[in-house]
Formats: sequence, structure tokens, C-alpha cells
Amino acid sequence: MAFPSLHPEEADPAAVPANQEVPEVHPAISSSDASDKEATDVKHATDTTLPEPQPVEDEQNTDGLASAPGSIYSTGLVVDSGSDHTETDNDNDSAYGTSVYSTTQSVRSSIYDYVEENGRTYHRFKEGKYFLPNDEVEKDRLDLQHHLCNLSFGSLYLAPLDNLEGGLHNVLDIATGTGIWAIEFAEQFPSAIVIGTDLSPIQPAYVPPNLRFEVDDAEDPWDYSHKFDYIHGRMLVTCFQSHLAVFKSAYDFLRPGGWIELQDASFPFLGADEKWEGTAFQRWMGLLMDGAKAMGKDWNRVPRYKDYLVEAGFEDVVERRFNCPIGSWAKGEKNRILGAWGKANILQSLGGLSLAILTKGLGMSVAEIELLLVEVRDDINRAGRDSIHLYAPMYVVYGRKP
Ligand SMILES: C[S@@+](CC[C@H](N)C(=O)[O-])C[C@H]1O[C@@H](n2cnc3c(N)ncnc32)[C@H](O)[C@@H]1O
Repeated sequence: MAFPSLHPEEADPAAVPANQEVPEVHPAISSSDASDKEATDVKHATDTTLPEPQPVEDEQNTDGLASAPGSIYSTGLVVDSGSDHTETDNDNDSAYGTSVYSTTQSVRSSIYDYVEENGRTYHRFKEGKYFLPNDEVEKDRLDLQHHLCNLSFGSLYLAPLDNLEGGLHNVLDIATGTGIWAIEFAEQFPSAIVIGTDLSPIQPAYVPPNLRFEVDDAEDPWDYSHKFDYIHGRMLVTCFQSHLAVFKSAYDFLRPGGWIELQDASFPFLGADEKWEGTAFQRWMGLLMDGAKAMGKDWNRVPRYKDYLVEAGFEDVVERRFNCPIGSWAKGEKNRILGAWGKANILQSLGGLSLAILTKGLGMSVAEIELLLVEVRDDINRAGRDSIHLYAPMYVVYGRKP
């Protein structure tokens, strides 16, 4: 499948306006510098117009905004009245060189002996803890989603790391997935030592020499031998029973002045106006939330990350919001590209998101799920400027340990 390029440097800068953002600083704390800069080791062996954007909270990739006062919908996304974009090829995976840490690898083959269910594979270490698969389909999706995040946020990180007092020496990426963020970050900061951890050993063997991966459960007590200058976690919304507990562990393992940064999509994904009401997509989102809840996980926590960070003790906490269209329906070149990638991402996630959650959480049969997903897929495929206007709310939240 061909996708449009998501590398910010390849996008037409004239067509992509600067983020029109209003960083939200937690009122109880001082304002931060919201500067906009732009080998697996096993620790544990084992022109329709949309409503007006909310001025303070919404940060959007807009070429222009129009308003429909009084509506409950407020996304900052404007339905495009023009033609859709053209897709182009993209593939930027980089893998080169063996990690200096590769000799420390002590992976037991049992953790590669993945659990198979309904044609997908899942992690073996702490089996059953995380509900999304770890197979090639999911790995491809995670890498696709990485590019989507890069385009949406404009950078691998938004915390003010440049000129960080004391320097950037030790970095941790929790729940690193395929490790693609950690690899690019390690390339960008060759003098920093980067560790990526995950329940699944799905990271590549060839990585920058300053990066290593570990199989680890971020919800276990942390036992690193040193503190970090920066801790990053992306797309953690589906992961933890207690996000607050994990953020508290991160607080304990940051050195004073160090930063935590969370980049996430907030469930449920929504419609930008009333056209999505009654759709299978809306029903599916509700079922996923219910299924996750039945399995002990709250997928609606991202809007609370800011409060969690404050509760954990962080200062200068900043929340920034981005809405990612699903389908190329929103006005603006950047939104059209984001929409194409948002659509590809969600289409590829349908089975992975649904199977474990809906069978185990709600007792649905695979056949029932497949029937539902036929309709959901149809909704996503018809999402366009003359049809339903779906989007994923996205957040970046960062804070500093005093
Ligand atoms: C949606 S993926 C995101 C991956 C990566 N952060 C990214 O943005 O590409 C979530 C990842 O979290 C991992 N995960 C889930 N629960 C975890 C836990 N308790 N500890 C460590 N990793 C976990 C999963 O195995 C999966 O790779």
C-alpha cells in the first residue's frame, strides 16, 4: 500500500501552517518554556463548516477555521470543500549497526513463544496483560502510527529538551513497541544513552549503538541503577491499570530538572459533527470502552494525564492538543495527509483493537465482531468531506521534576 509521506521535512512547508497552538499550563504551577523545537535485553527473564474551536484547549492543524456557535462539537477541524490529496510512497525504517549492548542479550526463547489467538499473536511475558497483538500486522501499524505522530506533533518531542540544564544523558522510552521512536531519538541524540522497554521483544536487532531494549513491565516496581534526564511514553492509553502509578515511578526515576513526556490518542475517537451519530463506528467505540472497562482498563484517561502529572509531583506541566482527522475530510494540506494516515492506521487496527477486548471483555463471538467490523470499515472508508467526519483526539503532556 502506498502512503503519503509523513516526514515533516518532506512535506511542503508552505502548505503546512505552523501549529496554531495554545499550550495549556496547569494553573497551580508556573508557566513553562513551551518551546517548540522543532537489541533486546531481558530484565525479567521471561466546505461544510464545523463548529468553532475551543480557544484555549484545542490545538489544531488548521488552514482556517469557521464556526457554528452553540454546537456541542468543537474540534478546530474544518471540512474541506476541495479535492483529496494524492498519495505517495513512504518508507523510512532505519536499521543499521549492532548495539554495543547486543552481547548482553540474554533473551530466553520462551518470551518469543508468543500466545496465538484468533489468528493473531500476543506477548508471552506477563501473558494476558496487554490486549493488542504483537505480530507483523500490528508492528507495521505501530510504525505507520509513528509517522503520523511525527507529522502531527512536528517533532519527536515537545518538552523543552534543548539546552536542558545538566544535559541529556539518560533517556527511557516506556512501552517502546517496535522501538521506532527510541531509534530515531537515539540517532538524534548520539551522546545520550537510550533504553526502550516493553512487554514484547518486537524491536529490531540492529539499532544505534547508544540504544538498548529490555523486556519489562512498566507497572512493576522500577529498579534502574541510575536516574533519567527524560522519560517518554507514547500511545500508552490502552496499556496500564494505573497510569498514575507508572507516572509516579517515572517521577522517582527522573533526576531533578528532568522531564517526562506523554504522547497519546484519547479514546473514544469521535465525530466532528452530528453525522457520526448512530454509526457502527460510534457503536464500536462504545463497545471498546465497555470491553476495556470489563477487563480492568479505562481507555479514557488521556485527558487526565495533566492532573496525574501534577499529582505525581511534576511542575511546569503543559498539555497540548491535536485532533487527527480519520479520512481526508478536513481542510488544509496537512490535515489531508494526516487524514489519509489516520484512516490507514485505524483500518489496520480494527481486528487488533477488537478481538481480545470484545471476546474476553464482552463475550462477543469472533463472527459477531467480524460482522460489526464490516460496518465499521465501511464507515471509515466513507468518511470524507461529504460524509461522516471522524477524528482521533491527540494529546501531548509534559512536566518537569522539581
Ligand atoms: C500502542 S503500543 C505503543 C508503542 C510505542 N510507544 C509507539 O508509540 O510506537 C503499546 C505498547 O505498550 C506495550 N505495553 C503494554 N503494557 C505494558 C506494560 N505494562 N509494560 C511495558 N510495556 C507495555 C505493548 O507491548 C505495546 O508494544
